[in-house]
Amino acid sequence: MCGIVAYIGPREAYPIILKGLKRLEYRGYDSSGVALLDNDLRVYKKKGKVAELEDSLVGKDLHAHAGMGHTRWATHGEPNDRNAHPHSSSSGRLAMIHNGIIENYAQLKNELIRKGYKFVSDTDTEVLLNFIEDIQKNNNCGLEEAVRIALKRVVGAYVIILLDKESPDTIIAARKGSPLVIGIGKGEHFLASDASPIIEYTKEVVYVNDYELAILKADELILKNLGNEKLTPYVQSLDLELAAIEKGGYDHFMLKEIFEQPDTIFDCLRGRLDVTKGTITMAGIQQNIERLTKANRIIMVACGTSWHAGLVAEYIFEELCRIPVEVEYASEFRYRNPVIHPGDVIIAISQSGETADTIVAIEKAKENGAFILGVVNVVGSSIARISNAGAYTHAGPEIGVASTKAFTAQLTVLTMIALKVAKEKGTIDNTRYMQLLGELHSMPEKVKEVLKLSKPIEKLAARYKDAADALYLGRGYNFPVALEGALKLKEISYIHAEGYPAAEMKHGPIALVDEHLPVVFVATKDSYHEKIVSNIQEIKARKGKVIAVITQGDEIIEKMADDYIAIPESDELVAPILSAIPMQLLAYYIGVAKGYDVDKPRNLAKSVTVE
Ligand code: G6P
Repeated sequence: MCGIVAYIGPREAYPIILKGLKRLEYRGYDSSGVALLDNDLRVYKKKGKVAELEDSLVGKDLHAHAGMGHTRWATHGEPNDRNAHPHSSSSGRLAMIHNGIIENYAQLKNELIRKGYKFVSDTDTEVLLNFIEDIQKNNNCGLEEAVRIALKRVVGAYVIILLDKESPDTIIAARKGSPLVIGIGKGEHFLASDASPIIEYTKEVVYVNDYELAILKADELILKNLGNEKLTPYVQSLDLELAAIEKGGYDHFMLKEIFEQPDTIFDCLRGRLDVTKGTITMAGIQQNIERLTKANRIIMVACGTSWHAGLVAEYIFEELCRIPVEVEYASEFRYRNPVIHPGDVIIAISQSGETADTIVAIEKAKENGAFILGVVNVVGSSIARISNAGAYTHAGPEIGVASTKAFTAQLTVLTMIALKVAKEKGTIDNTRYMQLLGELHSMPEKVKEVLKLSKPIEKLAARYKDAADALYLGRGYNFPVALEGALKLKEISYIHAEGYPAAEMKHGPIALVDEHLPVVFVATKDSYHEKIVSNIQEIKARKGKVIAVITQGDEIIEKMADDYIAIPESDELVAPILSAIPMQLLAYYIGVAKGYDVDKPRNLAKSVTVE
């Protein structure tokens, strides 16, 4: 949700910033802009994607050794040139970029208007910038002090980066709630929302914490808290390769990420699952095993696709561990005064580890004494850091806005955690335990089999791409997969789609069924098979078009469905890892067939760092 990047050092800043913005575009692409600082401070910005900004700057003098850039996901003010970042202060002395939301901006704006300030944009960012400038003028202080004073009055979440025309050798940045990484080079510094713009220059990074202020020169990094005390930066080494964030010959990141799943699931299992010894090694879980085995209740807290992973995990944990599970939208959980006890375990699921709603839900639960277990993909992210313990999903960077490989990695990790807890608690017998370890172990190979179906799914997509609506139905473990399938289609192809429990469709959605409505059944062989066969009959009787994801050799549904996708047989408990993949491919190919930018679907952002 908004990508920010900055550079100070001996190199030309603009090419570094531009490349960084392209890597961060998954965070928002409503507009973009750069500010370059040398003897003067130049700001260029434009509605639309980074490529449009780049085109508009051809032929301009972009020489500078310090600068910053922003790619926006609009919150305050529609996407246009005026609302694009960087914003300039009233005097023109300062420029600022911002990721987050200033909640009390209206009050600050009124105060400033009364003092005679005029605003050229509708953004909260311009308000904060002028508020800082006003403090600087009134207190006759330096920018650093003005920022510190201003931030004490700000309510909301932010990462801000400021340039001051009068100090061309300094960049000032601050963080609360939104992510900020500093890359430390030799006589140069980089700043960004994540490490992707930085890794080709340096692997030494510092993750800035909330309420911290960074004052950067080419050869100096000073980190302070808002009380003006110096802090010692904790320098970490990045474990990330450049290839992991490039398309590697695929047309889109989304397709690359779908095809990476045999490897990502393997990476997720690697070093943890040992089928011969019958062990699952997960240090974060082992160290807190009593918390989990003795939990009164588990609450899964997440958003979007991660929430769907939580729903699958609800079925798995209740079945294997016999612990009551609730699955909560993080945004609703936080604001409805939930009942939380110290014996509760919160499992926070997040690809990015930066989703604002999930972060505030965790904070709320922590206040009430709950134990927080993070299931997170991005190493070192905010959720990973605020959780009491956790397990990384190890899916590698996910850049396509629609989540794919992160989902199957989440399912893999959550299944391992449930198995570990069940074994410790004694709620699973050894035969079933060993069988499920074997099932997980076989997943990478089975996923490879599913991916061989991409061509037939592409053909299917061509046939259904003009549908106006679609219904996705599943039962049991496959019900959340139906929700995920519908979400993928909405995100990528803009076709209205709904996911439902297959039996529940009789209570409403069946009214939509006619010969034009494609109904996708996630109907692999499981304990609900006979029931879902009846549901398919009910749709066929009303002339709906049935596309079924089935288990290989299921002749019953093969004969009934208009189209089917047959995937390898697996235990029902792990079937979602396989059945999710045809959902991803179908949405992908429909989106491509309709000519959409599937990596950057309209209005969406990958990392939603505003509540
Ligand atoms: C955004 C993304 C989704 C993602 C959701 C939760 O909406 O577009 O793909 O599922 O955020 O993100 P998280 O990083 O917490 O899993």
